[in-house]
Amino acid sequence: MKYVLAPLAGFTNAAFRRLCARRGAALSYTEMVSAAGLAHGSSPTRHLMETLPGEGPVVCQLFGSRPDELAFAAREATMLRSISEDAPDAPRFCAIDLNAGCPMPKIVKECAGAALVRDPQLVYDCLKAMKAETSLPLTLKTRPGPRPDKIVLFELLDAAESAGCAGMTLHARFTSQMHSGETHLDLLAELVQRSRIPITGNGGVYNRVTAEHMAATGVEAIMIGRAAMANPWIFADLADPTRPEDAADADDRRRRLQNEVFREHLESALELQARLARLYPEDHVPSVDDFVAYTLHTHLFRYFNRRANAAGFRKRLGEIRTLAEVRALMAEEMTS
Ligand SMILES: Cc1cc2nc3c(=O)[nH]c(=O)nc-3n(C[C@H](O)[C@H](O)[C@H](O)COP(=O)(O)O)c2cc1C
Repeated sequence: MKYVLAPLAGFTNAAFRRLCARRGAALSYTEMVSAAGLAHGSSPTRHLMETLPGEGPVVCQLFGSRPDELAFAAREATMLRSISEDAPDAPRFCAIDLNAGCPMPKIVKECAGAALVRDPQLVYDCLKAMKAETSLPLTLKTRPGPRPDKIVLFELLDAAESAGCAGMTLHARFTSQMHSGETHLDLLAELVQRSRIPITGNGGVYNRVTAEHMAATGVEAIMIGRAAMANPWIFADLADPTRPEDAADADDRRRRLQNEVFREHLESALELQARLARLYPEDHVPSVDDFVAYTLHTHLFRYFNRRANAAGFRKRLGEIRTLAEVRALMAEEMTS
């Protein structure tokens, strides 16, 4: 089974993606990138499309609701070249994905994300326009429908297949459920049965048992979101049944893994900040201190959960403003 890192706005930048790739994620996604932002020349939008060497295959996820803007954005993403020295002429991304599932109000207000689920014809129009502008495989990430009494999944499958998509991901929860609650694995299994393109399953996988339930639907790959935010080593745990699972009683192991990701994440975040500052000198890329404090806060809180001193650690982390302070905290944690 292939395990894939989900797109997570605010989390899956290049630094975090590489961390997961090194721990067994077979594929990862950019945070969702605004097609309107690209079409209107917003340079900061492009920061989300930067990669780091050693990330493995990355899908560029776009959101929008206007076929012309999505077509433009698909062309732009397709033209970007890899930054790997081994293959400088290769495309940067291995596929382009359309987000038809994000329920956040600021996205839905623009008739994008989950708003698209209400209109399979518009999904088709968007995909068709994107397909015309990219030579990369095109995929769709969506939900079964707006709410349990309105299932549009099979119309969406039809839209994806007719527009020439190479695959589809189903977050098996209705829009009304946002990101929690029951995942509808029965619908996922039916989708796999009916589909002529590979299906990736998503929603609620956080350990071996939940992964086995999803695998039983017949999906080609399993996408993991929130569980990876706290445990980027979940990919390696799932791929290798002989590895001890990330149980609460495995304190020493958890501590070692937390320390490893803490150190590696900090170094990758610094590398990404340096790259953005070099490539986008006009954009007021956050300083090293701001970048580290901002990006690491969101992650480090999660890495250190379930640690004996987690509450005290979180409090101190919340007060950190500089790289030197992060390094000092890290040194203390490593030796405590
Ligand atoms: C903080 C956060 C940000 C997310 N950002 C995106 C996004 O940019 N694009 C997208 O398609 N889904 C996004 N999602 C949804 C996830 O990709 C995934 O579908 C969802 O979390 C369900 O998977 P899980 O149960 O494994 O977390 C986001 C979810 C969360 C919690």
